[in-house]
Amino acid sequence: MHIDILTLFPQMFQVPFSIGIFKRAIDRKLVRVNIHNIRDYTHDKHHIVDDYAYGGGAGMLLKPEPIFEAVESIKSDIYLEQGADELPIILLTPQGRLFSQQIAHELSKYSHLILICGHYEGVDERVHEHLVTDKISIGDYVLSGGELAAMVVVDAVVRLLPGVLGSEASVLNDSHATGLLEYSQYTRPAVYRGWSVPEVLLSGNHAQIAKWRREQAIQRTLERRPELLDKANLSLEGRQLAERLSLRGK
Ligand code: ADE
Repeated sequence: MHIDILTLFPQMFQVPFSIGIFKRAIDRKLVRVNIHNIRDYTHDKHHIVDDYAYGGGAGMLLKPEPIFEAVESIKSDIYLEQGADELPIILLTPQGRLFSQQIAHELSKYSHLILICGHYEGVDERVHEHLVTDKISIGDYVLSGGELAAMVVVDAVVRLLPGVLGSEASVLNDSHATGLLEYSQYTRPAVYRGWSVPEVLLSGNHAQIAKWRREQAIQRTLERRPELLDKANLSLEGRQLAERLSLRGK
């Protein structure tokens, strides 16, 4: 997968992409990330990227020209490389659709993504209307720019790409992958400060362990994020268990 990120602060991406899973994925050529400075696409002496809003009001807006030109320049290179396939152009903005594991899966299917990090009080509306194909928010709060949001999206997408994580199974059981929160997990020691690991996990009985984990996932989802259960794809057995646990909690 190729990911192009347009930003006013390229330095912000240096650390996240140079360590851990990202670094490994980049080194193994599973993903290629190019960071573009929006300022490089200005033509004036002072490299101005923002301006006052027509009609007045506090704060500055990102001007459309450098953003359009940056995207057009990236697109022209891509088409030379691999033909015109579908190319999401995503603006990170608190006005976007709310990011989720499902959207991460959806984005992980593309061979190329372009992410645009907004800044200041916002971005000229013509970018929303005539350039981007998608707008994503990572939550109902306002960040000072789209960079952290872009990192969140890229992290969630890249770890889903085949070969990026050590074990594919670890992605399948993630919280939210199944529509439920993930079950509790324990490692050694078996007893720590008097707190024991649940017996069943030491039993070696894989069927019992799988059953315990399913129940755990349902129980903690019910306790912590009950609204997720309505959307989760539960078996009849799972649904009956959720109902029993829910009645017990009343
Ligand atoms: N830019 C500012 N706030 C944001 C948010 N919540 N999500 C995505 N981009 C943003």
